[in-house]
Amino acid sequence: MNKILLLNLLLCLLGCKSVSRPMDFVEENIDFARKQIGNEINIIEASGRFLNPVTLQEDGSVYYCGYADWRSGFFPGSVWYLYELTGDENLLPLADKYSRGMEEAKNLTWHHDVGFMIYCSFGNGYRLTGNPEYVEVIVQAAQSLSTRFREVPGIIQSWDVDRGWMSERGWECPVIIDNMMNLEPLFEATRLTGDSTYYQIAVVHADRALEEQFRPDGCCYHVIDYDLTTGAVRNRHTAQGYAHESVWSRGQAWAVYGYTVCYRETGEPKYIQQAIKTFKFMKNHPAMPADCIPYWDMEAPAIPDEFRDVSTAACMASALYEMSTMDIPFANRYKEYADRLMESMASDAYRAKVGENGNFLLMHSVGSIPHGAEVDKPLNYADYYFLEALKRKQYIEKGLN
Ligand code: GLY
Repeated sequence: MNKILLLNLLLCLLGCKSVSRPMDFVEENIDFARKQIGNEINIIEASGRFLNPVTLQEDGSVYYCGYADWRSGFFPGSVWYLYELTGDENLLPLADKYSRGMEEAKNLTWHHDVGFMIYCSFGNGYRLTGNPEYVEVIVQAAQSLSTRFREVPGIIQSWDVDRGWMSERGWECPVIIDNMMNLEPLFEATRLTGDSTYYQIAVVHADRALEEQFRPDGCCYHVIDYDLTTGAVRNRHTAQGYAHESVWSRGQAWAVYGYTVCYRETGEPKYIQQAIKTFKFMKNHPAMPADCIPYWDMEAPAIPDEFRDVSTAACMASALYEMSTMDIPFANRYKEYADRLMESMASDAYRAKVGENGNFLLMHSVGSIPHGAEVDKPLNYADYYFLEALKRKQYIEKGLN
């Protein structure tokens, strides 16, 4: 707690040349986020209930989720980032309360997203406070996720095949590229417990996905379906993209972010090489618009009349800031591209006005067009990765780590 206070004092001393100085890009976006998320916090606190905002519904009302929704960690995580970015001590008990409101997610074993859920919430909480009560939550989440590891293909099974629309696809062991985002708490659990099993599962998964999930040009498939008996690949499919062989944009961002984390955690060059290759594929894609905010699928048939996906840009920006701090050739170029993404996202075209957009920060994301879910809507994970990227940008520019 004191570390955050000291840090913000330092940032203020470094940044404040005079009281009348206009706010710079990072400060202005922090100010905006504080107002917008502050509005949402007022609504939640006035309700007397635990509300966890995700997106806007067709009638314009905010959709709030329960703990089992894969998106339940992003709003608590955003409050943790807002606490870190502002140093506002009033946010600390709220970040803790909102995280504890979805703590039961640590026990989920019927899908893989427990990693996203618990690491964005309790993972940030532990990073910022060192609260020992959060350790058990992170380790339990890693334990729950580990139950989904399948020895023969050597992979974490993302989805169960007997649930809802998934039961209609004929899959046996579907693994989605998003699963790369769930590995971070496994690495952390090994650090926290000394039990290398979690680390090993993460690495075995990352290696098999590296072999099977990517095309020669560097972009990735969304879903790889494995045979649980032989370990062979049964299908290379999509669920949220336009077509099996098309380029679902958010999947590319998950891959870039996930393999950047794997390189940070292991030092294995093949991981960062893949992250760079996938990023370059997206950057150089002929359909990439001038403002660099991707279409929801870069091969959707009606481009340029297709929806953009700001959540892809936010996740990509955050990953690129981390890449830019690594000991790799031309590292600063990744920051330059991330800065372009941030400028676009913070422009009037994508950033909401204070008090509008259901108090979400960013407009124009896409959940899943094939499922008709959250089409051209705000999404809490776009906001979360935007704040994470903002914090990474701030630290790089202030020379902090
Ligand atoms: N993990 C779900 C998504 O990216 O939409």
